[in-house]
Amino acid sequence: MPDPSTLRSHRWFGPDDLRSFGHRSRLKGMGLDDEDYRGKPIVAILNTWSDLNTCHSHFKTRVEDVRRGILQAGGFPVEIPVMSLGEMMMKPTTMFYRNLLAMETEEVLRCHPVDAAVLMGGCDKTVPAMLMGALSADIPSIFMPAGPMLKARWKNETLGSGSDSWKFWAERCAGSLCDRDWFEIENCIARSAGTCMTMGTASTMAAVSEALGFTLPGAACIPAVVAEHSRLAVASGRRAVAIAWENLRPSRIASRKSFENAVRTALTTGGSTNAIVHLIAMAGRAGVELTLDDFDALSRETPVLADLRPAGRFLMEDLFNAGGVPALLEQIRHLLHLDCQTVGGMSLGEQIAGAGVIDSEVIRPLDRPVSPTGGTCVLRGNLAPGGSVIKGIAAEPRLLKHTGPALVFDDYADLKARVNDPDLPVTADTVMVLRTAGPVGAPGMPEWGMLPIPKKLLEQGVRDLVRISDARMSGTSYGACVLHVAPESWVGGPLALVEDGDLIELDVESRRLHWHVSDEEAARRRANWKPRASRFERGYGKLHQDHVSQADQGCDFDFLRGRSPESEPDIH
Ligand code: FES
Repeated sequence: MPDPSTLRSHRWFGPDDLRSFGHRSRLKGMGLDDEDYRGKPIVAILNTWSDLNTCHSHFKTRVEDVRRGILQAGGFPVEIPVMSLGEMMMKPTTMFYRNLLAMETEEVLRCHPVDAAVLMGGCDKTVPAMLMGALSADIPSIFMPAGPMLKARWKNETLGSGSDSWKFWAERCAGSLCDRDWFEIENCIARSAGTCMTMGTASTMAAVSEALGFTLPGAACIPAVVAEHSRLAVASGRRAVAIAWENLRPSRIASRKSFENAVRTALTTGGSTNAIVHLIAMAGRAGVELTLDDFDALSRETPVLADLRPAGRFLMEDLFNAGGVPALLEQIRHLLHLDCQTVGGMSLGEQIAGAGVIDSEVIRPLDRPVSPTGGTCVLRGNLAPGGSVIKGIAAEPRLLKHTGPALVFDDYADLKARVNDPDLPVTADTVMVLRTAGPVGAPGMPEWGMLPIPKKLLEQGVRDLVRISDARMSGTSYGACVLHVAPESWVGGPLALVEDGDLIELDVESRRLHWHVSDEEAARRRANWKPRASRFERGYGKLHQDHVSQADQGCDFDFLRGRSPESEPDIH
């Protein structure tokens, strides 16, 4: 029998003093007695359920499965609701609030009598936010992903959330999709509870959290509404009790090597560019230096093996049936650090050992990859001295080496107002530029990076165009979109100085993004450039504005990097 006095919660409930008397008596006031909690690990279930987070609608009941697992293993479950970041409903963007959920997660864990935690998240930003908080709090934590939606069907087509919305919207704008078809697609494209079932940001971050070692084996791909997902929830609850006794803290799991595994996983899935921002921020919490150049170096030697939309053909349910993340990682075993610790108690190498590929169309073999190198590339040049990114495998190949005249939109409102103007001076060679879309300027770096193709080009059959911005792009999006330009235009990055007609050169092979304007002309424009007035004078917006870092630094708040020396203030 482990020694209960070693538990963190013992400091709340064990001593014979007035404060501990108060803690115990208030639990008893809820109808609990010593049998419920004394000497048992207290496991917090951080639940990001909300009526406005459609991806987590099953969490309202799934939490009972987690609770069952904790009870089975002899723990005491306590559910603590935390901020729910539902991608579809929040404005200006959930990214604006990622750091707020990270702060809440950290502080909720720190201030309560918690020995371990199950983190219930899934919709895009909830994954990095909860893991960032857990890494900073450094309290044993297991991540329980929401799981993807089931595949959607329309007529005889399989639909992928996000990706097919963009695709069919383009057809509708081009006049080739009728009202009835559009309405039918609206009815069936989101088929169940769960996260977007393409390899968008949610799926990428779930796979990343599994590779990083924060989930049970195979957790990332289990569809939200199948029986296996309930069993995952129960098993996660049981395992949370064990990691409390083992004191298996995030600092024993997260390391430079485990982050390299995570980066390779994001790359081999052909995953979302958003993973770059989130992984840099998460690494910062763990005291690991991870840079854009690390992504680019690993990208050059990591094949894309998962044939998943938006870059490929299949959906998350197919990946689950094909063997999931363990089978995928087993294919690139030679590229991974296999000795990394996982929350399941084994090494990553043990966790994936022998995981077989069931469908080699979904998880391709090494000799038949979707792409021999990673789909995400880091570009630099005089337009992006801090770096920028492009998901080359999701772009039309003809645009990966392209020079064209800029067409500049000052902000999103300007883009919306003019993009479908029949007189817009745009051709298939144009390079569309959007500014005021970065972490400070937008604010929150929304997913505006897949600028809409102007209607007049859609009608001509054009479906891709070089687009450059300081925004992010949804993981379900696609196109020749250069994203995350740093520093952003709002703070005076070179994007702020571009004018219509300037020639911009994109060369993905040589990782080059060049603005063909002389140094003298750039200096002249800079001398005339005036920063805009700040957006916020108070509140969370002010905190965000004053402390958010640029995209190449992960957009974390400058004062949140690393972890605090104490897991909670030892003051009564
Ligand atoms: Fe929640 Fe896509 S909207 S994962």
